[in-house]
Amino acid sequence: PHQVFAELRRHEPVAWIEEPTGDGFAGGPGFWAVTRYDDVMTVSKNPDTFSSHKGSSFLRDQRPQDLAALQQMMLNLDPPDHSQMRSIVSKVFTPKMVRGMFDTITAHAHDIVDALPDDREIDLVEHVSAEMPLRVLADVLGVPSEDRHLLYDWTNRMVGLDDPSYGGREAFLSAFIEMFKYSNAQTNAKRAEPGSDVWSLIVNAEVDGARLSTEELNRFFQLLVIAGNETTRNLLTGFVLTLSEHPDERSKLATDSALLPKAIEEVLRFHSPVIQFRRTVTRSTELGGKQLHEGQKVVMFYVSANRDEAQFDDPDAFRIDRGAANHLAFGAGTHFCLGNSLARLEAKVLLETLFARFPHWQVTGPPDRFRSNFINGIKKLPVHLGKAT
Ligand code: HEM
Repeated sequence: PHQVFAELRRHEPVAWIEEPTGDGFAGGPGFWAVTRYDDVMTVSKNPDTFSSHKGSSFLRDQRPQDLAALQQMMLNLDPPDHSQMRSIVSKVFTPKMVRGMFDTITAHAHDIVDALPDDREIDLVEHVSAEMPLRVLADVLGVPSEDRHLLYDWTNRMVGLDDPSYGGREAFLSAFIEMFKYSNAQTNAKRAEPGSDVWSLIVNAEVDGARLSTEELNRFFQLLVIAGNETTRNLLTGFVLTLSEHPDERSKLATDSALLPKAIEEVLRFHSPVIQFRRTVTRSTELGGKQLHEGQKVVMFYVSANRDEAQFDDPDAFRIDRGAANHLAFGAGTHFCLGNSLARLEAKVLLETLFARFPHWQVTGPPDRFRSNFINGIKKLPVHLGKAT
């Protein structure tokens, strides 16, 4: 796909793509694929022209009743409604609050790494990459740690509609029913007895003198479960896989572990966990030399923007000391990822702990890739841990 994106960036940076029929897309007739860095930036920063609300940020078209529900999620709001919702959550996800989670995250990293078998092969996703975001998410939502397996199962089914291994449409639909029942109970519990978790703050916060509605809260819960899981998990697996494919870069990191934060940024650029988000055009406008019309869909390919040669020198080279934190893996503008500092901290602490304990790890087989046009995911990755130090 990187070659196709390179061609598009070069010859038709804003290209009309006809949607194939009968393979799971509900609608048509197509969408504008935006592949250059600057154009993705323009779309992200102009919600008046490129709406997240009309049609939602998800690629797949929705039935009207499903769309109405999805539109209550912060991700799918435009200013000024978006700004109100965002102000509640941004109070919670400040860099300071995230730094305050350092000790807990460190404890999780030790628990996860301590539980690994010495000198054996494991599935990295199940035992390492999935575990950290799930434990943190359980803390954020104020749910018992054992329930993280429920969260994992729901997010897999909700995002896994196009991957046959997650049970298809029935599993997808029932995941929402099960999860909303759970989130309602959690909301009631945290209204009756607020804790120090993020969910307690959200359910008790007031916007214009009123608390968020059940539907808004359910969608918030869904957003956190998906956004907190799919992305960070695949950043962690992507890190190990990409490093294993670039032995020189791996040695650089082994010699200078202070490079880890830069290496994380480079993996975010090179192996971006989120492939794309969508917008809908609200009024005629020009982009990349093309005339876009009201109602048309625009898809921002972060994976392509992050390999744009106009922005990154030798973009297909993986260099852990590149030091380019201006990638678009977390989006940009109005909806810039609220969890970015949390994800960065989880990755740094876990990878540091893992590599210190098992410096001789080896990827022993090919990754089992997730079938999705949204998440650049890996379902399984066999890794032999080598002797612990
Ligand atoms: C938004 C990526 C981790 C919560 C976004 C967006 C991207 C993104 C691309 C922009 C969506 C848009 O413009 O429509 C990532 C990546 C992550 C990550 C690559 C990890 C490597 C997290 C975590 C959380 C989180 C850990 C929370 C626990 C959110 C929320 C939004 C968001 C709430 C919506 C913000 C808004 O609508 O204003 N993320 N994310 N993300 N992310 Fe993340």
